[in-house]
Amino acid sequence: MERKQLLKPGEKVLFAVFGAFLVLAIAGLVVMEVVRAHMSKPMFASRASFDLSAAGRHGSKLFREAGCTACHRAMRNGTNQGIGLDGVGSLRSQQWLEAFLKHPEANWATVTIDHGQPPKEAAYVAQLPPQDLHDIAMFLSELKAERGSATSAVPPPEIARSGFVNSMTEMWAPEAWKEKYQDIRHKKPPAGETNEPQ
Ligand code: HEC
Repeated sequence: MERKQLLKPGEKVLFAVFGAFLVLAIAGLVVMEVVRAHMSKPMFASRASFDLSAAGRHGSKLFREAGCTACHRAMRNGTNQGIGLDGVGSLRSQQWLEAFLKHPEANWATVTIDHGQPPKEAAYVAQLPPQDLHDIAMFLSELKAERGSATSAVPPPEIARSGFVNSMTEMWAPEAWKEKYQDIRHKKPPAGETNEPQ
């Protein structure tokens, strides 16, 4: 009786390719971890910072106790399910944050997913005591990000004065976009900073 072949040639190729990727991925991970362990500076510098007032510290405690961390992440607490809130204080004002927490649907540009009326999952947030929401908004407004990082409201000054970016937007951005969208390079920067070429 002829012995049954275990793997067809195509399957062998498939497993070999998969195996090669796996070995490469593991080797890459080991090399990266060894390099990282020997680095004197962190591989990715943190561009977010915080300096909490008394209300902000209380808000930080409430933020964890009220279950916000089930969906959000801030100061190394929480998950990546929803929007990361590190640096949100450089993007939004304390007034906006408080208004959003109390009346999410009136303050969000599009339809909200989780904040808002029941049965949305984060509907409970707007029902928290107003003083708690105030302190949470204080806490969030004190989470800052360096200018130009992902959560900052304005790009770094080099971009605002880059002739290359100017010529690219002139060449490629359709006329209609200029009316429809705001060029974030001309957005008002945080207090004490300027968008003007230096
Ligand atoms: C069930 C998941 C969930 C929970 C719990 C939750 N959020 Fe959110 N949050 C979201 C989502 C999703 C958005 C985006 C708006 C939307 O679609 O609802 C958001 C948006 C926000 C924003 C606006 C962020 C921005 O970039 O402008 C803030 C601030 C915020 N949440 C704070 C909180 C706080 C404070 C709590 C706890 C009291 C909380 N959230 C609990 C899911 C959640």
